[in-house]
Amino acid sequence: MNNGEYNFQPEVKRTYTPEEAGHDRIRKPVSRMSRKKNRRVNVGVLIVCLVFTVIVGVCVYLLASGKNRDDASLPGNSGENESVNDVITNNPGGGDHGGGADAQKYEGTETSGETPEGKPFTVTVSEEQMHMGDLILVNYAYPYAFAESEVSRIQTVTSAKNEFYLARDSKVSLRSDFIEVINTLMEDMYEVNGNKYMQVNSAYRSYQEQVDTYEYYKNTNGEEYAKNYVATPGYSEHHTGLAVDFNVYKNGYIYYVESYDGCAWFRENAKEYGIVLRYEPDKTYITGINGETWHYRYVGAPHAEIMYDLDLCLEEYIDYVKDYTIDKMLCYDGENLISMDAFEEGEDVYGVYFVPSQGEETRITIPENVEYSISGNNVDGYIVTLTK
Ligand code: DAL
Ligand code: ZN
Repeated sequence: MNNGEYNFQPEVKRTYTPEEAGHDRIRKPVSRMSRKKNRRVNVGVLIVCLVFTVIVGVCVYLLASGKNRDDASLPGNSGENESVNDVITNNPGGGDHGGGADAQKYEGTETSGETPEGKPFTVTVSEEQMHMGDLILVNYAYPYAFAESEVSRIQTVTSAKNEFYLARDSKVSLRSDFIEVINTLMEDMYEVNGNKYMQVNSAYRSYQEQVDTYEYYKNTNGEEYAKNYVATPGYSEHHTGLAVDFNVYKNGYIYYVESYDGCAWFRENAKEYGIVLRYEPDKTYITGINGETWHYRYVGAPHAEIMYDLDLCLEEYIDYVKDYTIDKMLCYDGENLISMDAFEEGEDVYGVYFVPSQGEETRITIPENVEYSISGNNVDGYIVTLTK
């Protein structure tokens, strides 16, 4: 051990002069007369200060009330609690089209939000956005685009997870909103059956990590195995942060989700949280990947449930949705497909439709007075999901 490192350095003592120590100020005796005089001077200073404060206060009040009057003249702003920025942010798409209140109110670029009452709302999306969102298809034919705004949403699971499941290590990562969904699901499962042993075993992979994964399986199990179970780098759902390989880790043992009794609830209910088992063995001829009982994918509500009910894998669902338009939506009430009339009259119902890409920019019309979200399909257009 290097003793010098741990040597305590004694404080350097030094004698302060009375001025430095401030003693010269407190030690001087003050006579009774000069105390009275000082008090008179102090009262005078106090009065001047008070008058000054009142004048400044009145000026500030007048200026502030003038500003509120200006703000109040902006559309939708009461001028009391909201700043101009609040108004633009809260108003779907507001601020990116000039031309008055109507342009702000009925057009936008946000891919999720609420549409106002009155008339249909139009969202303009870019071609880049066709490669983003919860419903993008990433497979042997459709690579992931690695858009910066998507990649920046990747977060380590340990930094955001709750205590109702495990992460394999401190590096496994997923898209932040997907971690939130898993947190809710795992807590709900724990309340039902006490299972808190499911583990995020493999999750987000960068391009290079997919290269390493492919090489690892090629070297240990052979090229045929790697081709059947590991996607080509650039073409893996693991790049999206929306795919996760789960297992169970309990008392030092690892179990498959498919055969662990405590996961029966998870296998049955994951779809209600927008999560699907992505690679069923009977769909290998479509997905190009052998059955994987561990690989789950977030697609969001109500898509996971519709896919399950109709026995469609993501490739099939992306095709299926293309038959639906704003005038003839795919409608669902959480348990059954319903008619469009039932959607229009109903509550807590979903409507889904497809809008083909129109090139660099696509204008998507959305009905009034609904919550909406738009996802690219990573193939040829956009899927709109309505909730009301
Ligand atoms: N295991 C899946 C197919 C992947 O590597 O993306
Ligand atoms: Zn996987």
